[in-house]
Amino acid sequence: MTILALETSCDETAAAIVQNGITLITQSIATSMPLHAATGGIVPEIASRQQSLFILPVLQEVLSPQFTIDSSQPRGSANQNPRHQPSIPIRPSTINPQPVTAIAVTIGPGLIGSLLVGVETAKTLAYTWNLPLIPVNHMLGHIYGAWLTFGRDMDQHWPKLALLVSGGHTELILMHSHHELQKVGQTLDDAAGEAFDKAAKILGLGYPGGPNLSRLAESGNPTAIPFPLPLNQKNNLNFSFSGLKTALLNYSREHPQTNKADIAASFQHTIVTSLVTKTRLAAAKYAVKEVILGGGVAANTLLRERLASELRPLTVRIPDLKFTTDNAAVIASAAHYHNHPINPLEVQANPSLELS
Ligand code: KG4
Ligand code: ZN
Repeated sequence: MTILALETSCDETAAAIVQNGITLITQSIATSMPLHAATGGIVPEIASRQQSLFILPVLQEVLSPQFTIDSSQPRGSANQNPRHQPSIPIRPSTINPQPVTAIAVTIGPGLIGSLLVGVETAKTLAYTWNLPLIPVNHMLGHIYGAWLTFGRDMDQHWPKLALLVSGGHTELILMHSHHELQKVGQTLDDAAGEAFDKAAKILGLGYPGGPNLSRLAESGNPTAIPFPLPLNQKNNLNFSFSGLKTALLNYSREHPQTNKADIAASFQHTIVTSLVTKTRLAAAKYAVKEVILGGGVAANTLLRERLASELRPLTVRIPDLKFTTDNAAVIASAAHYHNHPINPLEVQANPSLELS
């Protein structure tokens, strides 16, 4: 299958074409991040307006006259008769692309205004080109950065454990197969990325907080401030980062002379220790064969290094950086393995969609 996917759940507008779940043909990503930097956080109304502006240019970038749409695939929906068989997609690539056979789109979780732009665009494309439309959960997509990075080898070694760390979610997902997923741990309050963003704001580092804070942390001492490790009981696989953020706020107020780099490094050290510790506990409890890292915080260098080294000899699948923060390639890959198309006219955005 060759899938054209759209991802518009938050402040990135992304399109990608992926062949057989593992081969990226082309992708394009636009972001409204600079506008949110001015306000110190995402303003949903601004994000969705930018989605509307970016969606067609991003689509245009992945499409090229060399590529065709294969609308000969049977599909049991209201849209039986091909209306158009246009010769549109995709940008020239070193890989010989096959015709697009399906459209995929993120339907949630995310910001409703942003999601709607991708969902309505995907519905229009599927309906007009007479292609199946596969709805995808954004967090499921984050798991599949590993498939795009490591390929078919990922189809073995079950059960697996996925640590998903993004701006809105922090979850441990036990995978018995592609289709048998079980959430075995999650944050009780703030997500890891949210904690990075809020801490960065307190330290005056600007948005996006994660990359800014981790850059500053490089020159700090990670053991300078002994922040408490949240929910540090051996049988607890849940996370909590809101108290840690308050501890950082209080510490900064009470010790205004302290080097900000030391505060950043100590904060990052504590979050990463919590993520690595819980992942190691869950991996042992469920005797998994390998661990997958996914989500925007998977771009964090300390997390990447410590997860790999502290879970050894277990294999940890660390995705390429380009598949960590939001992108449409992982949505296309997830759609390949969860190929459950529904009638385009029935597809709906769901801002609070759960992974199940
Ligand atoms: O997955 P993602 O791109 O969007 C959501 O689905 O939320 O994740 C964005 C989050 C933001 O909170 C951002 O600060 C965080 O990922 N992030 C990082 C790093 N790069 C992005 N956090 C820590 N270190 C990084 N290098
Ligand atoms: Zn995400």
